[in-house]
Amino acid sequence: MSRPSIGTLRGAASLDDESYVDFVEGMRAFNLSRMVPRLVQSGDAIGAGMAAQSPRPRVQDLFTALDHVPAAQMARRMMRSTQMMMWRGTGDTYRRIAGELEDWLKQAEAAAPHLLRIDPAFAYPDYFRAQDIHLQPGNYHDDALAGFVFHYGSKVFFTGGNDDDRLHNVMAAWCPIDGSPQRIVDLGCGVGQSTTAFKLRFPEAEVHGIDLAAPMLRYGHARARELGIEVHFTQGDAAALDFADNSVDAALAMILFHELPPEVAEGVVKEAARILKPGGTFTIIDFPHIAAEELSGRHCMRLFDSWYNGEPYAPAFVHSDFTALLKAHFGDVDPDYRPAATSTGALQIRVCRKTA
Ligand SMILES: C[S@@+](CC[C@H](N)C(=O)[O-])C[C@H]1O[C@@H](n2cnc3c(N)ncnc32)[C@H](O)[C@@H]1O
Repeated sequence: MSRPSIGTLRGAASLDDESYVDFVEGMRAFNLSRMVPRLVQSGDAIGAGMAAQSPRPRVQDLFTALDHVPAAQMARRMMRSTQMMMWRGTGDTYRRIAGELEDWLKQAEAAAPHLLRIDPAFAYPDYFRAQDIHLQPGNYHDDALAGFVFHYGSKVFFTGGNDDDRLHNVMAAWCPIDGSPQRIVDLGCGVGQSTTAFKLRFPEAEVHGIDLAAPMLRYGHARARELGIEVHFTQGDAAALDFADNSVDAALAMILFHELPPEVAEGVVKEAARILKPGGTFTIIDFPHIAAEELSGRHCMRLFDSWYNGEPYAPAFVHSDFTALLKAHFGDVDPDYRPAATSTGALQIRVCRKTA
């Protein structure tokens, strides 16, 4: 018999499976709190020494220098292993109850077909199919259970900090949205945790989640239905949206842009600017900018994430002058929005307002 749900997350197939994933989450928490800070400190210290050298070494040289620091080796090994164990544990457990899960998705689809638009002939862009992002087997689109697996995996990733959508609810509350919005769009919505958070914040608004990946949307739709929250999920490319010009009050892209090649990122910014009404806001929550020449521990972690954790497009995004791109399309851009009395952690929030 499958396990009870964990907050808004569908339960595992058995207690053994749940215990395994819980163990992996504990290992990840240990690594993040004890080992990764030592890698970062070593990277900062060695990087500071390198910065004084002439010619100035590159961040790749600092990355290699960390190969000789035992704590950094340990942090990297644990990062990669816990990620792989996380996907194995979450994928295996849901595959054991795949029939039950598929029935649950179908029931939701039969009960509320108008809230889910999937195109069976949808052609996924090449950049999206090129790699399993975050090492998730089958990526977001090529495993019927990807939504379940992603949600359970992200529970481990956030080491419990996003249980019950806590983080997404906070992030949706951060978005500066005026008055009573009629329509809100969540771009790259994944399993729809910020989509439902918006509806909880603005019950009168029509809220849409847009994503490329059908399995993510199917799961998001069934999950929202189980929560009793009525939101729309549509398969589509955030760089080619199906909304009319000036028809949306607010849009969000939460941890989407670092997964896009530069030309797609530009397309998404253009589309957000097109669909928003004058005065409407586009909030972007993502990795912070890092200068390509920065010799630091956090820069080495970002490269590690790209090379060993399936994030092919993240370095180009963090190195780019993304704020300049936003300013080319929006009249008013706050590149470092700080919600009052709240820490934004390792994320940078940019808020754009359409002025005309
Ligand atoms: C890291 S997940 C973030 C999901 C969600 N925003 C969250 O905070 O949990 C990135 C999502 O963006 C989607 N995605 C990637 N490229 C996209 C595009 N061009 N248009 C729409 N969605 C896209 C992926 O399928 C994936 O679900």
